[in-house]
Amino acid sequence: MARVLFREDEIRARVRALANAIADTYAGIEGPLTLVPVLSGSIIFVADLIRAMPLRLKLALIHVSTYPGRTTRAGEPKTVMALTGDVNGKHVLVVDDILDSGRTLASVCGLIREQKPASLRSAVLLRKPAGAQRVIDADFIGFDVSDFFVVGYGLDYDDLYRNYPHIGVLREELIR
Ligand code: IMP
Ligand code: MG
Repeated sequence: MARVLFREDEIRARVRALANAIADTYAGIEGPLTLVPVLSGSIIFVADLIRAMPLRLKLALIHVSTYPGRTTRAGEPKTVMALTGDVNGKHVLVVDDILDSGRTLASVCGLIREQKPASLRSAVLLRKPAGAQRVIDADFIGFDVSDFFVVGYGLDYDDLYRNYPHIGVLREELIR
């Protein structure tokens, strides 16, 4: 890594705070919350988030690919695997690793909205400074980050480095 931005313990503390804020928001709902993790980047975030969330919940997975292969610039979000659960009439929280242009989140939220959920919100671990270009914002945000390409804690470059426990900026020479 060229630089570590967030260490494991700092991430843990922030994820717990987010889990509490989410649990507070959904405390009064009827029925379980349906969490929709956007694969693959959100897996570690979701694993930690749900274990810190004292709430009845279900998971419905969706796999969207925005950065195919060795790219650091977003293409069109492509649905690789459709939603694995029924979200009609459910309270839905979409969870993604990072919000940049918002096209990924917007496309997932669009697909979910077609199923007419009772409510729809989103949580992201990281948010980049996309400014006016952003098409959608998230309801719950872990950290705001500068416009670096970051990896670790689930985030990848060419599907690598997801298991790095901290969040860091990859060394320039490793990006081709
Ligand atoms: P958006 O569609 O432009 O908001 O891009 C968000 C998606 O691109 C996320 O689901 C991430 O998987 C991926 N992404 C964006 N920035 C990074 C990064 O710095 N590292 C790894 N993946 C990223
Ligand atoms: Mg992603």
